[in-house]
Amino acid sequence: MRIGILTSGGDAPGLNAVIRGAVLTGITVHHQEFVGFRNGWKGVVDGDIVPLGREQIMGISKQGGTILGTSRTNPYEHGGAERVAEVMEQNGIDALLAIGGEGTLAAARRLSNAGVKIVGVPKTVDNDLDATDYTFGFDTAVQIATDAMDRLRTTGDSHGRCMIAEVMGRHVGWIALHSGMAAGAHAILIPERKTSIDQIVEWVQSAHNRGRAPLVVVAEGFSLDSMTDVHSERGLDAFGRPRLGGIGEHLAPMIEERTGIETRATTLGHIQRGGTPSAYDRVLATRLGMHALRLVLEEHWGCMVALQGTEIVHVPFADALGKLKVVPDERYDEAAVLFG
Ligand code: F6P
Repeated sequence: MRIGILTSGGDAPGLNAVIRGAVLTGITVHHQEFVGFRNGWKGVVDGDIVPLGREQIMGISKQGGTILGTSRTNPYEHGGAERVAEVMEQNGIDALLAIGGEGTLAAARRLSNAGVKIVGVPKTVDNDLDATDYTFGFDTAVQIATDAMDRLRTTGDSHGRCMIAEVMGRHVGWIALHSGMAAGAHAILIPERKTSIDQIVEWVQSAHNRGRAPLVVVAEGFSLDSMTDVHSERGLDAFGRPRLGGIGEHLAPMIEERTGIETRATTLGHIQRGGTPSAYDRVLATRLGMHALRLVLEEHWGCMVALQGTEIVHVPFADALGKLKVVPDERYDEAAVLFG
C-alpha cells in the first residue's frame, strides 16, 4: 500500500513520534510505502506531497512540533471528498492516516462516510476527546504549565502578589486541573464549573491571610457565573470555534479591586504546545502510530485509535466524536478541598 500521512489542527508534542511509529513499523515490518502531506488538509487538497521514508523519520520522536507542518484548514471548504479522492488517485495513494483533534477527525469522519479510506489518530493537548483516556501532548503541556507556575510562585512570593496563570484547554479544564494541583494552586477555575467572583476572592483572601502569595489557575474556557459566554476577542477559527484567551487578564483587576492585593496575570499560551515531548507522550504517541498502521493494513476504515486504561484499542469515528471529555464533578471537588 501507499499510505499518506497528515498532521492537522493545532500541533501537540508527540506528533513526530506518531509519524515515526507508523512509518518505521510500516517499512521495516510490513514493507509499505509512505508519503507525507504538508500542512494538514491544506496539503491534501493542494496535492502538496513529500517523501516519508526512514531517512525523514530518523530521530524525530524527541522533536516537538511536526515535521509535516500543520494548519487548521477545513477540507470541506476546499472541494471536500471529491477533491481528496482526486488527489489520492493522482498520486497513487491508497489510504490516509490523519493525525488531529476534534476538527480534523470530524472532517476525517465525513470523508470516510463519503468513501475515502481513512484511519485517525487523536491528538490534542486539551485531552478533551471522550473515547480516549489520554491524548499525547497533554502530559507535556501539564509539565510545562506546572514549571511555569512554580516560577510564578517564586516571583509572587517575593512581591506578596496574587498571580494568575491562564492555561489552554479550550472548553475543558484538564490542563488547569492537573497543573494547578501539581503546583499547589489556591484556586483552579475550569469551564465545567462556573464560579462567582466572591468565591474566587474568598479563596485568594484566605491564602493571603495565611501569609501566602495566592496562585489562581484559570483555564482559557472558564466563565464567571455572571458571564453568559466564554471570553473570546479573536473571532472564530476555520471550524467556526471561538478563539479563546484573555480571561486571566479579565479577572486580575476584579480580584485586585476587591482584595486590595496587587494581582498579575500571565497567559501561558502556545508555550504549552512547544518543545520536547515528555517520555510518557513519546511512548503513547509511538504506540498509537504503530496501532494506527495496523488498522490501515487490516482496512478498519473510519476508525481511530484510542487509549483505554493501558491498552490501545480502536473506535469508530461515529462513537468517538461529538462528545467532549469534561472534568467530572468529583475530580474537581477533590481538588477544591485544598483551595484557599
Ligand atoms: O486545541 C488545542 C489548543 O491549543 C487549545 O487549547 C487552544 O484554545 C487552541 O488550540 C489555540 O489554537 P491556535 O493554535 O490556532 O491559536
